[in-house]
Amino acid sequence: MNFKNEIKVAPSILSADYADLKNEIEKVKTAGADMLHVDVMDGHFVPNISIGPPVVKSLRKATDMFLDCHLMISNPYDYIDAFASSGADLISFHIESNSDVEKTIEKIISAGVKPALVIKPKTPAEAVFPYLDKLSMVLVMTVEPGFGGQSFMSDMLPKITAIREKANEVNPDLLIQVDGGIVPETARLCVDAGADVLVSGSFIFGATDTKEAIDSLR
Ligand code: DX5
Ligand code: ZN
Repeated sequence: MNFKNEIKVAPSILSADYADLKNEIEKVKTAGADMLHVDVMDGHFVPNISIGPPVVKSLRKATDMFLDCHLMISNPYDYIDAFASSGADLISFHIESNSDVEKTIEKIISAGVKPALVIKPKTPAEAVFPYLDKLSMVLVMTVEPGFGGQSFMSDMLPKITAIREKANEVNPDLLIQVDGGIVPETARLCVDAGADVLVSGSFIFGATDTKEAIDSLR
């Protein structure tokens, strides 16, 4: 997927009806979503538990959409093979996890998957600078990870700009994704700051008109 130059929308299935995922995915695909954001939570790295590789495997069978898997787990390195063989197209993991960042990026690349690194709100932008040349994407969390439906933290905006500026020097193709509290107003702020990919859960899946919701983010 060549995904530079235009704003991408990635609905987070955390806010979808898990018993009706096939229809939920079809709904956002038809409405023009660019990729599917899959939130994986282990109850350790974050207080919540969501889904794992078996669901990714089923999603892979159900759709040709690009699967963007956001691992909110303590030991991502140990699960790269499981997510890759289940059909993930991109794997993002937290710099704050227990895994070695360099080795985990290498493992993702060797598995034929695009690597991305995520930073929580308290982690500075500079933390990802040493890895930018190897990454396809950086995810700047705009809420504390763990739950959908939280309020956007506007003090994350300068981090987006700082990463964009550094990436322009070392890896201009790098995508910057934002996740948490994304609605049309906050989407605009993020795009102006340099974001390319907008994750949105409760806003998209809570909307009565899905296409209108996705268009309004873009
Ligand atoms: C939060 C997750 C998000 C979440 C976003 O930990 O990473 O992807 O689903 O949900 P909203 O868009 O409702 O803030
Ligand atoms: Zn997420």
